[in-house]
Amino acid sequence: MTTHVVIETVPILPEPRGPLSRSVIEALQHDPPPGELPSVDADPYGEDLTLALHVCYELHYRGFRSVRPDWEWQPDLLRFRAELERVFLDAVKSDVDGGVDVAAVLDPLLVEQVPGDGVSHRLRDSGTVEQLREYFVHRSIYHLKEADPHAWVIPRLTGQAKASLVAVEFDEFGGGRAERVHAQLFADLLEAAGLRPGYLHYLDVVPAPAIALVNLMSMFGLHRGLRGALVGHFTAAEITTAPSSARMAQALRRLELPDACIRFYAEHIEADAVHEQVMRRDVLGDLLGREPGLATDVVLGVQATELLERRLADHLLSSWESGTTSLRQAL
Ligand SMILES: [Fe+2]
Ligand SMILES: [Fe+2]
Repeated sequence: MTTHVVIETVPILPEPRGPLSRSVIEALQHDPPPGELPSVDADPYGEDLTLALHVCYELHYRGFRSVRPDWEWQPDLLRFRAELERVFLDAVKSDVDGGVDVAAVLDPLLVEQVPGDGVSHRLRDSGTVEQLREYFVHRSIYHLKEADPHAWVIPRLTGQAKASLVAVEFDEFGGGRAERVHAQLFADLLEAAGLRPGYLHYLDVVPAPAIALVNLMSMFGLHRGLRGALVGHFTAAEITTAPSSARMAQALRRLELPDACIRFYAEHIEADAVHEQVMRRDVLGDLLGREPGLATDVVLGVQATELLERRLADHLLSSWESGTTSLRQAL
């Protein structure tokens, strides 16, 4: 019988990476109300802003050990978070092409790059075990809360879009079986790769690019006004996951990693081929039929995902190219 690791449930606060993240992390260690939170004037993709925003969002998920739960709705902190979001969202919007043609942004995602220059191509063809383990650590920030950010959108949908998105989420959450929850499969993968499966255990060593992707999902999920972007993001992610999971499974087999590592990707090869269809036809199709004005946001969700995935890929590949670790500290 397979044993499954227990995911530690409540993380500890991370180390600050600059004035913004320091003031949030320090504030959370005191009872409300905090002192003045600083004005936000920082690189929208930088370490400091990205971590500060991530810490604010985490209060809506599991929170942090010894941080009071009522910080989640503390008005000064929410005001500060809104500032961080504004800087981040403005940057993302100005760095994507925009538009209203949803098919024009989704169709190219269906075409496989040959030979392909992405991270999964690189790992499949020439990656080392160390690089794979680093990749798992980057992705652990999301995969240990896999599909949670998307659940925020459920009350904002109706009809077929709602029914079908919930059907996809049902699979992500294990179809009623705890051991098949995708976050659990990823925890099992980490353990089998000799890594720690604790929730946000690696937050301090993961640099901004991987965290920014999770921030994007949280922002889209938590704002009803961005529901179109959340659905666009989710659809884009499902379309690209099946082929990249196939390459990851090949990488893991080539490097003879244990079956428990392969299971997570094997599950996504099959499931996401179906999820892709459901998201595009039943969720997106129905949503845009009801609310055609959301097309701009759907396109934003797709393009923002590509933009931040590309930034993460550039970071990983350039680090490995120069022979250095892609993490803030070597494992
Ligand atoms: Fe999944
Ligand atoms: Fe999926």
